[in-house]
Amino acid sequence: MPGVFQLSPDQIVREAEIAHGLGVPAVLLFGIPNAKDEAASGAYSRNGIVQQTSRQLKKEFPDLLVITDVCLCEYMNHGHCGIVEKNKGGRVANDRTLKLLARTAVSHAEAGADIVAPSDMMDGRVAAIREALDDAGLEDTPILSYAAKYASAYYGPFREAAESAPQFGDRRAYQMDAGNALEALREVAMDIGEGADMVMVKPALPCLDILQRVKNEFGYPTAAYSVSGEFSMIKAAAAKGWLDERQATLEALQAMRRAGADFIVTYAAGDAARWLKEG
Ligand code: PBG
Ligand code: ZN
Repeated sequence: MPGVFQLSPDQIVREAEIAHGLGVPAVLLFGIPNAKDEAASGAYSRNGIVQQTSRQLKKEFPDLLVITDVCLCEYMNHGHCGIVEKNKGGRVANDRTLKLLARTAVSHAEAGADIVAPSDMMDGRVAAIREALDDAGLEDTPILSYAAKYASAYYGPFREAAESAPQFGDRRAYQMDAGNALEALREVAMDIGEGADMVMVKPALPCLDILQRVKNEFGYPTAAYSVSGEFSMIKAAAAKGWLDERQATLEALQAMRRAGADFIVTYAAGDAARWLKEG
């Protein structure tokens, strides 16, 4: 993925310092463990990579918001977002996965994460995470739910960068069908009903209609996630001299804002902050 690297915790602290200095208010952490297994144990280990980094970031920059992506795919040896049941033809076991997601979210919050962001798309995960956080005395930790997340080709560069591509099958059993708009509204309604504090729509540019409908219908704090493929396309076209990177990036971000995004998750955050500062 162009310009995007796997970083060690000390490198992240340096990157965060730069981003923070530019006025970027928050970072979203993804982890790549030393070893992957069938229980995603790296996801909820007290000394996992995200837990270590969250602790360190909050110590160094208390007012930089740390959001953690809660999912299992980067930690599973098969790359799926949940527990795979081999005797059932490789189905993902929704309800058994909830326990691990909840454990992961609690371990992130205990390490200092300000906001946990489940991206797995299992049914019932927001309720399970909310309950587990509350039981652990973390009732003030908000949940940013990847509520409307389509099964998208635009996640390709991320999966390569995060070494999390599924080793068999695909994610269409748990991520949404791009042809279906009403399902997105149902997913958002369910997540809000289960206690989500903020909802996210993903990918962003191919789903601006969904973003606008979600914002209008629910009036909830709504995020757009401009995903790896959106970022990489602009980078590639700019490298060929076909697009002006700055203008194309800012135009895309502005469109997300126009459609109703209250905040945007983007790999271009540092660049955009710099450009906006320059005026
Ligand atoms: C993990 C996760 C993914 C992304 C965010 N969290 C990958 C996926 O669902 O396959 C996509 C991010 C991007 O493409 O920038 N479930
Ligand atoms: Zn996942």
